[in-house]
Amino acid sequence: MPSYQEEQFPLPTPARLVRELHLKRPPWWMLSLLVVVVVGTWIPLVLIYRARGTTSRQPRVHFFMDMDKQAKFATQSAHPWFKDGRAMRGPIEGTLARGHLQHDPHFFDGFTKDANSGAIKFVTTMPTQVTVDERLLRRGQQRYEIYCTVCHGATGVGDGPVNQRALELKEPKWVPATNLMTQEIRDRADGQIFQAIRDGVRNMPSYGSQIDPNDRWAIVAYLRELQRQSPVSVTATQQGKTPQASPQEATP
Ligand code: HEC
Repeated sequence: MPSYQEEQFPLPTPARLVRELHLKRPPWWMLSLLVVVVVGTWIPLVLIYRARGTTSRQPRVHFFMDMDKQAKFATQSAHPWFKDGRAMRGPIEGTLARGHLQHDPHFFDGFTKDANSGAIKFVTTMPTQVTVDERLLRRGQQRYEIYCTVCHGATGVGDGPVNQRALELKEPKWVPATNLMTQEIRDRADGQIFQAIRDGVRNMPSYGSQIDPNDRWAIVAYLRELQRQSPVSVTATQQGKTPQASPQEATP
């Protein structure tokens, strides 16, 4: 049985509203427009769905540009503003990166260059900045064992694992690492060994980017110590030592 409340104030159902307020049904065009609009909202969904599953040669739509696209000159691009046509400009002459004022040739190059003739003279002493002590030699040994042992061997005679392996594989183009215990290398100026580490020598790659000048001198000092403690080698390379190598390959 409906309560008093329900009898006095019946719920305004849509049917009752239509009846009591004399509302009319919306006209047919309004209904059809509604259908069209609702169906129209599906179109972007369909397009997105399609775009996810197809490939295109056009770049993707990118709503938020972040910093991906900006007005700039790409590396190696051209630009007519400049005489040489290059958008990339070199540093102004004399520019130095911070902390890269390397004005001491003894310490940074290992040689001095005659201003007139351009002749190079390797230094034969340690730079004054470097004190050869226990600590430096330890550092030198550690660096040597990281960077040089692989080719030149822990004792410096040129029998490092890379060298051994190249001989095992009978690499036709392999140039063996120099035996650093020969009289020839002992007679080399300190600066020449320093420079060999920095710039590489013929088939030996450069280690300048990996070993800073202090460490290069430390390696030189350690190598000198190693030479003092080892017998003088007579063969320039250690190729003949490895059993797999045939005598023809033992070219000095
Ligand atoms: C990838 C192997 C390899 C490594 C690592 C290597 N060397 Fe060498 N080194 C060689 C080879 C090969 C030669 C001989 C180059 C030639 O004669 O073409 C050589 C030659 C040398 C020479 C003789 C240079 C000359 O004037 O004849 C010195 C000194 C030397 N290395 C020192 C070092 C020191 C110090 C290190 C560590 C920082 C080092 N090498 C690391 C392969 C190596």
